[in-house]
Amino acid sequence: MVDTSDEWIVTRTGIRERHIASNGCHSSDMAVAASKQALEMAGCSGDEIDLLIVGTVTPDYRLPSTACVIQEKMHLPNAVGFDIVAACTGFINGLSIAAPLIEVGRYSKALVIGVEKLSSFTNYADRNTCVLFGDAAGAAVVSREEGEGGVLSTFMKSDGNMRELLWAEVGGTVNPYSPDFSFDGRDKILMNGSDVFKVAVKEMGRAAQNVLDEAGLKPSDIAMIIPHQANIRIIDALAKRLKVDPEKVYINIDKYGNTSAASVPLALDQANRAGKIKPGDNVLMVAFGGGLIWGAALVRW
Ligand code: UT7
Repeated sequence: MVDTSDEWIVTRTGIRERHIASNGCHSSDMAVAASKQALEMAGCSGDEIDLLIVGTVTPDYRLPSTACVIQEKMHLPNAVGFDIVAACTGFINGLSIAAPLIEVGRYSKALVIGVEKLSSFTNYADRNTCVLFGDAAGAAVVSREEGEGGVLSTFMKSDGNMRELLWAEVGGTVNPYSPDFSFDGRDKILMNGSDVFKVAVKEMGRAAQNVLDEAGLKPSDIAMIIPHQANIRIIDALAKRLKVDPEKVYINIDKYGNTSAASVPLALDQANRAGKIKPGDNVLMVAFGGGLIWGAALVRW
């Protein structure tokens, strides 16, 4: 489709495989599959969920939110659902919003989802982006429980000055779709990869340090880092910057590529189910994406 090679993709990104959802499988469908597993693992019924936050840049519709579609498909009659557009940090931002609302007792059980059907939003004629992205969903139940642990600290930050480094120029109110207008791929993801790369390394490191400082912990206290899976070289640079043993960094970019908001919850779930996270472990999640926006969450498992 484009002038590229397996060698370039693997050495420059670490990606070997990606998953592409079928035409009839929408963001809400992937989110429902993930959510059912999350509810089952948490031993909680749909009736108990009172807050539903969905991070996505690939909604089923422009209106209503994908959260409302998921609410209907999952039968969550007691929840308020809404989407957040925070690109790759969607899940971390969702968790950062849900945790304090639960802590103060305003809500009792949240379902936080990161889901993307990026294949619907990728220009397969653009080699700068089309080799990177995949489709996925991940979900977590966040609730108020007795005992030690929980969400220790969170951090969210954005800088809209750099929004044109990673964006879709056409399709909103500034440049609406129109029959006389040549989109030329500009309604799909456009990215200046090398500039984004530099900011990602710096700001993911700072976001990670920020949540550690707030919790009064050191990098050596981290049992597992769950980074956004955008590029293996970014992940390696982050581990080096934090001086954390690479063994403590969960990596699945080789199997899934960059799945934006789904990346962190997908990796978190896989690390957990693989027994790599134990009760009492400090788990650091950190992500970076289009906005530009970045964030981190530190959780005691
Ligand atoms: O998830 C949201 C946040 N996103 C990120 O964090 C992504 C950050 N950026 C990256 O991961 C990397 O910048 C990329 C993987 C996107 C690109 O890697 P790079 O090493 O930064 O490459 P580059 O953009 O500097 O391009 C180097 C060369 C260029 O060719 P010339 O101009 O040197 O001749 C590109 O045209 O590599 C070329 N190139 C490719 N060649 C083969 C770009 N994409 C490809 C490709 N196959 N798919």
